Amino acid sequence: MDSLLLSCRTLSFLIACRFIPAHKLFHYNCSACHGPRAEGIGNVPPLVSTRVQTATPGALKWVLRNGSLTTGMPSFSKLPEAQRWQIITYIQSLNSR
Ligand code: HEC
Repeated sequence: MDSLLLSCRTLSFLIACRFIPAHKLFHYNCSACHGPRAEGIGNVPPLVSTRVQTATPGALKWVLRNGSLTTGMPSFSKLPEAQRWQIITYIQSLNSR
């Protein structure tokens, strides 16, 4: 029982450590191209656009998973799915701030 308790503690510790707030995930993964406020830079489109804000979360999920390799939008399929959802919720909340 002791070792079970220990492993549960260790597990919850790891989960807590792996949680990264959405704005940081956006900053690490997206802002270099899309801008710190998702306003777009050069040829990279803004994410505060009506197009993105009114897109379904599923459509954005598709973009993050597959990218758009011919145009320079990378695939983020290596990010854990939960983090991709965090980023999607974050970018779709930007206009309402
Ligand atoms: C290396 C630069 C780069 C990075 C990093 C990047 N993107 Fe992009 N992104 C692009 C480019 C370029 C396009 C335009 C693709 C096109 O025209 O089809 C794009 C398009 C998009 C679109 C579609 C926008 C539209 O109006 O159709 C979404 C949504 C998007 N990116 C979200 C993200 C998110 C979220 C992240 C971070 C997880 C991210 N991007 C990281 C370059 C980047």
